[in-house]
Amino acid sequence: MTTPDDAEKKRTPVAILISGRGSNMMALVEACADPAFPARVVLVLSNEPDAAGLTWAADRGLPTALVNHRHYPNREAFDAALDARLREVGARIVCLAGFMRLLTPGFVARWPDRLLNIHPSLLPAFKGLHSHERALDAGVRLHGCTVHLVSPEMDSGPIVAQAAVPVRADDTPESLAARVLEQEHRIYPLALRLLAEGRLHVSGAACQVRGAKSPDGALSNPVG
Ligand code: GRF
Repeated sequence: MTTPDDAEKKRTPVAILISGRGSNMMALVEACADPAFPARVVLVLSNEPDAAGLTWAADRGLPTALVNHRHYPNREAFDAALDARLREVGARIVCLAGFMRLLTPGFVARWPDRLLNIHPSLLPAFKGLHSHERALDAGVRLHGCTVHLVSPEMDSGPIVAQAAVPVRADDTPESLAARVLEQEHRIYPLALRLLAEGRLHVSGAACQVRGAKSPDGALSNPVG
């Protein structure tokens, strides 16, 4: 007989790393609240003591941790502390969700194909900070967000999921960010599900998704 505990143990343990607001973390937590979702949250960790997301997670009774990078002499020591916490809680997947620290190649190598990140642009365009301002400055008509497996270089690695939104003539960085964020909250749980279900296959720089549907049609802007 399968007990609810056995079913729970089959779900992949995931840790979510944040530095601030944590709205993507919230979307992942909400997805994991469904017992049928293939992952469960075992830790929400922040490097920033004042991260609003940390309070949100603690208020909901989730296991939380603070690993303040300022308390470590260098990146290697900070990353070793992170790694230790993640292994302590038995994490098998790590989701970076607005985590504002660059991870060392050594850390990344210890989580091969188990480390996801979300970035607010259609990668490989607009890596780094201020992607919405830069998209507006560049005059692109489609912008969006990307979930990818993490390689040591910033905002790089095999792409798992992307969503595009049209850029409007009256967009500000804030209005564009808000529309992109809605899509972030949609594709991050989807990407986590695909990874937890073992449906991602990395081949070179690309990532194949087994059994996923690709929509027909196109998003174009302008339309007439
Ligand atoms: C998101 O736009 C995410 O793509 C980027 O940082 C922002 C974090 O927002 N990496 P939140 O903390 O998840 O609300």
